[in-house]
Amino acid sequence: MNDFRSIRLDNFSASIAACEEGSNLTPTSEEETFESFARERLRSIYRHLNTPDGSPHFNAILEQMLGAFPSVIDDLLRSEGLEVVRTKVSEKISRDGWLAIADEIGLPPEHPANYDWRFTPETTRNIADYVSKHLENSPDKTICCLGSPTIAIELVQRGWQGKIVLLDINTPLVEMIDSYARNQKADFSSQTYDVQDILPDHLENIADVVIMDPPWYLDYYRAFLARATTILSKKGGQILCPIFPELSRHGARKDILALQKELVVMGCQENELAMIARFLMPGFEEKILQRQGIATPPVDWRMAEMRALKFDAHRAKNQATKFNLEPQCWARYGDRNTAVVFRGNLGEFIGHQPSRLESFLSISRHDRRDRDILWWDSNHQCLVVTNKT
Ligand SMILES: C[S@@+](CC[C@H](N)C(=O)[O-])C[C@H]1O[C@@H](n2cnc3c(N)ncnc32)[C@H](O)[C@@H]1O
Repeated sequence: MNDFRSIRLDNFSASIAACEEGSNLTPTSEEETFESFARERLRSIYRHLNTPDGSPHFNAILEQMLGAFPSVIDDLLRSEGLEVVRTKVSEKISRDGWLAIADEIGLPPEHPANYDWRFTPETTRNIADYVSKHLENSPDKTICCLGSPTIAIELVQRGWQGKIVLLDINTPLVEMIDSYARNQKADFSSQTYDVQDILPDHLENIADVVIMDPPWYLDYYRAFLARATTILSKKGGQILCPIFPELSRHGARKDILALQKELVVMGCQENELAMIARFLMPGFEEKILQRQGIATPPVDWRMAEMRALKFDAHRAKNQATKFNLEPQCWARYGDRNTAVVFRGNLGEFIGHQPSRLESFLSISRHDRRDRDILWWDSNHQCLVVTNKT
């Protein structure tokens, strides 16, 4: 069985190679690599938090490590010989806000192949509050939730008077939220939409605000931004979007710099920090950490800056492009003997023999390229169908 740690190391080498090849940063210092940057940051946080009264708590360090995965921090702490308090902090997740609705309507759990990391209820409330401050709550205003389904739930729940448009690749999620919104008599429309595809004409120039949360990779941001700027009203408007933190994965720093430059080229005139968004730790991640013997961090340890972007009203119309992201495949139902697998948006049925399945702890992009990953089971373990090679 593959393990998560070895996958991350593979990715690390690949991202260093990519960094050296493609970056216009001058690799002048050790800091250019993920590990040395993370190590330096850890040392300085530790110096700051360590007092004669005792070692810092693991979670206090995690909070300041710019999205570094807990197992990465754990490895660094051990290799530096730094003592931390590792007790599990008991916490009660309050299943209010959009989470209460998700429970009520039976929303499917997060799906790693869709990079489905969901906002905390507090964050969806903050985002809706932010929008309410900047946009009049009236029937002639439109908010588009592009890959941000929990915001759509939040807006319906709090009785947003304007139009809400939900676009997401995840069909059952879209269908469930749509039927909830219709029961609530919201002015709601939705569509299963893959940002790789050219935006349908009826979605052009419709929204006063677009709230988007792409998977945290540069090619996804490019595709989502291209669609979001087309969806946005030509009269102007705002895009709200989290920017992944620098240590959230290997190569993230370089990608953030590239994204900042690309935003300027796209005609982004304002790029302001709106708030810090927090994300719920998906169940599969918690299991991985438990298996690695790492005290479970708080359920909302992952954070990102939520940026408010404004674009030049005369921005170039560049949207008749198809983007090529990695193919999306995922499953809806299954047990250890059978799998009903849906590919993309087609709902194509693929049956599997259990002998062809292999158990796997997590999915990285690297894995998805090399293997034909088709199924995520109810125990949050990925089952992989034979290597492509
Ligand atoms: C990082 S998650 C964001 C979820 C968001 N934080 C929330 O709480 O609603 C990415 C979202 O984009 C969607 N998505 C992934 N790939 C997509 C694609 N190619 N086109 C459209 N949506 C996509 C996923 O289904 C998921 O809802």
